Amino acid sequence: MKQEQVTHVLEQALAAIEAAVGSEVLESLRIKYLGKKGEISALVKTIGDVLPEERGEFGKKVNEAKQAVTAALKLKQSGASNASVKLKGPILDVTLPGRKRRLGRRHPISVTAEQIKRVFSGLGFEIASGPEVETEHYNFDALNIPRDHPARDGFDTFYLNDGRLLRSQTSTVQIRVMEKRQPPLRILAPGRVYRPDIVDATHHYMFHQVEGLVVDENVTFADMKYVLETAIRALFGRERKMRLLPSFFPFTEPSAEVFMSYDYLKDGKQESGWLEIAGCGMVDPNVFEAVGYPPGKYTGFAFGFGLDRIAMLQYNIKDIRLLTENFQDFLHQF
Ligand code: DAH
Repeated sequence: MKQEQVTHVLEQALAAIEAAVGSEVLESLRIKYLGKKGEISALVKTIGDVLPEERGEFGKKVNEAKQAVTAALKLKQSGASNASVKLKGPILDVTLPGRKRRLGRRHPISVTAEQIKRVFSGLGFEIASGPEVETEHYNFDALNIPRDHPARDGFDTFYLNDGRLLRSQTSTVQIRVMEKRQPPLRILAPGRVYRPDIVDATHHYMFHQVEGLVVDENVTFADMKYVLETAIRALFGRERKMRLLPSFFPFTEPSAEVFMSYDYLKDGKQESGWLEIAGCGMVDPNVFEAVGYPPGKYTGFAFGFGLDRIAMLQYNIKDIRLLTENFQDFLHQF
């Protein structure tokens, strides 16, 4: 009976210690069982009352119970203090500077393209597009570029194994639109083009162009000049001047290169000069013939801007490679 009592007290004590939370509860359990008037202490006091032949075993049992409770209390106490050390420790250091997440931004090419689209939309142009993988028909033949033209050389155009190619100019979109639609047309086609150029500060194997095409009855060279000059001033400022120099493109006749006036500082002195920013011209009758327009009925003009060039001028970017490197510190300036 007495021995069972020891077992009972021990089981209760161990269960209570196991369930205890916090050092105050543990201390009250220590008093409850091991304190002067504690339950185990009371059992210790009864050892002397036990019959001599049972005393040894009983005493041993009580002492084991006392040791077990002491050990359990100690273990739990150290566990509890470990836990409180962890809670006090630097799980979350609120004094550390936060990790800043950058918001995405529009790429300077996209910003400039958007601006150009807006300017030409204001002049009545609609936005058109075409595929980047093209056929020789759209990139060359229909644009009056003869078979032996150097642009058709593998050194100047990326060819695919199946004879198709990566378009080397957005002029392809002129043909794609005219094959499907009748004049009047006023379209603007921004897009990527590809050429096997050695990459350096001003050349890349992928860059952007903006193609324009106007076709109607009685469209003149003067119309073209007005449109280009208006666009340049809208993009770069009213003080800009434009000049056209005679040039050659197979798909326009006559053709011209478009130059824009610009001011710059040289050795502390204000200088001014001319920058070439586009090609243009009156649509060659051979192109109209290639798309099946009735001969002599329509006239039109076309132009092609280098979009990267314009963005680089607008933002004073000196190296075209920066536009494709995805370098965040650079991109976040725009
Ligand atoms: N496609 C020409 C190029 O890649 C640019 C160009 C010149 C486009 C004259 C035109 C144009 O539409 O009329 O160099």
